[in-house]
Amino acid sequence: MSLKKTQTLILAAGKGTRMKSSQAKVLHFLAEKPLLQHVIDCAKSISDSIAIISGHQAEKVNLLCSDYPCYQQEEQLGTGHAVQQAVDFIEDDSNIVILYGDVPLIQNKTLQALIESCQHGLSVLTVKLGNPDGYGRIVRKNGEIRQIVEQKDASADEKKINEVNSGIMCVSGGLLKSYLSRLSNDNAQGEYYLTDIIAMHVADGKQCDSYLCSDEFEVAGVNDKWQLARLERHYQQNKVKQICLNGTQVMDPARLDIRGDISLGQDVFIDVNVILEGNVTIGDNVKIGANVIIRNASIGSNSEIFPNSIIENSQIKENCAIGPFARIRPESIIENKAKVGNFVEVKKSTIGLGSKVSHLSYIGDTTMGKDVNIGAGTITCNYDGAFKHQTIIEDDVFIGSDSQLVAPVSIGKGSTVAAGSTITKNVEKDKLVLSRVAQKSISGWQRPKK
Ligand code: UD1
Ligand code: CA
Repeated sequence: MSLKKTQTLILAAGKGTRMKSSQAKVLHFLAEKPLLQHVIDCAKSISDSIAIISGHQAEKVNLLCSDYPCYQQEEQLGTGHAVQQAVDFIEDDSNIVILYGDVPLIQNKTLQALIESCQHGLSVLTVKLGNPDGYGRIVRKNGEIRQIVEQKDASADEKKINEVNSGIMCVSGGLLKSYLSRLSNDNAQGEYYLTDIIAMHVADGKQCDSYLCSDEFEVAGVNDKWQLARLERHYQQNKVKQICLNGTQVMDPARLDIRGDISLGQDVFIDVNVILEGNVTIGDNVKIGANVIIRNASIGSNSEIFPNSIIENSQIKENCAIGPFARIRPESIIENKAKVGNFVEVKKSTIGLGSKVSHLSYIGDTTMGKDVNIGAGTITCNYDGAFKHQTIIEDDVFIGSDSQLVAPVSIGKGSTVAAGSTITKNVEKDKLVLSRVAQKSISGWQRPKK
């Protein structure tokens, strides 16, 4: 470990013209998280302090990094110019790590190695690419780095070099400040290149160190939405690989997306086309069927989520069966051994222990006890056009099919609601309640004829 303090500067002022978007590039999402947030999260793991340089849509970008000083680069005059804006942040005795807000997959280990490689005041993170087009080339002589030449300034020979500048570097604060004051924009792009500090360092008789990154995705930048899509796939593949190696069975690694923090128990099985978003906790022996979306929810052990179900901001406890085609909306709790079947929507409700809502129902703003059976087509009428009202269904209630419970209303313990009833008043316990017209038969009635 380096004894020096580590200060990280994240460059995020660029517009990202090739994204063809009204949104600044670093605000685009990878795995449901802004690119810049990925970089900040990695920076946190190595840094004593962090600062961000913003420019395009600075107000929005600064919101994302309100915990850190943000320096404005009004005009984007190059990477060197960007760093110049934060000169007040730079302390002489620190190692300054420069990161890019549009290089989201950089990892802690690589940055640690870069910092350790920095033995003479300056080290660059390089990578070897099959196609180095567009990147700054690392020019070496007898193995020692002499300079970085930008694509547009490179000679034909230099363009053949396949070791390129990732853009990420570690430089001693005092040196960086002195080099920044000497930058010029006398080059093909008329920009202040941060990369020019390498030649200055060498001209001062100092060695420029480097660390070669073996994973090109870690240092890959996002310039357009095709690159963004490719990084998303790479990120997802890595995530799925991790969970498989930790014991989850995944039917198709290319058809599972993980966008958040996932905790998985033992022997979880995940079928194709599943999306897990936000904070998702899944217990042991859980089966997740095809086309299921789970967002900010927990699924207890031994529960099964059947295909085409959506679960959001809710808790599914143990030994439950959900779906197929169930929708569990926010603030719902499905207690142990409960069943929510096909074409059932549950919102802000508790389904009690062992209770069943098996078919074609809407249960909203409802508190349900244990061992309740809700017949097919039951609707809790929770909305009067202006306000939402509560339905209470106590233990051992049986609601017959095609009933409406007009809230606010409560059904007492052990009561039975006959099929086809519309319940508008509270029902006491242990009652049979009907609200249908008595059946009558009329003889000799003629159906109209054309
Ligand atoms: C830069 C490097 C190049 C390297 C490549 C790696 C320089 C001169 N060149 O080139 O050697 O191979 O990155 O991807 O450094 N930015 C600002 N303000 C500016 C200019 C850029 O904040 O005025 C930010 C951008 O938002 C981006 C990063 O700096 O996050 C890199 O800028 P970009 O224009 O993409 O640099 P390249 O020309 O690709
Ligand atoms: Ca550029």
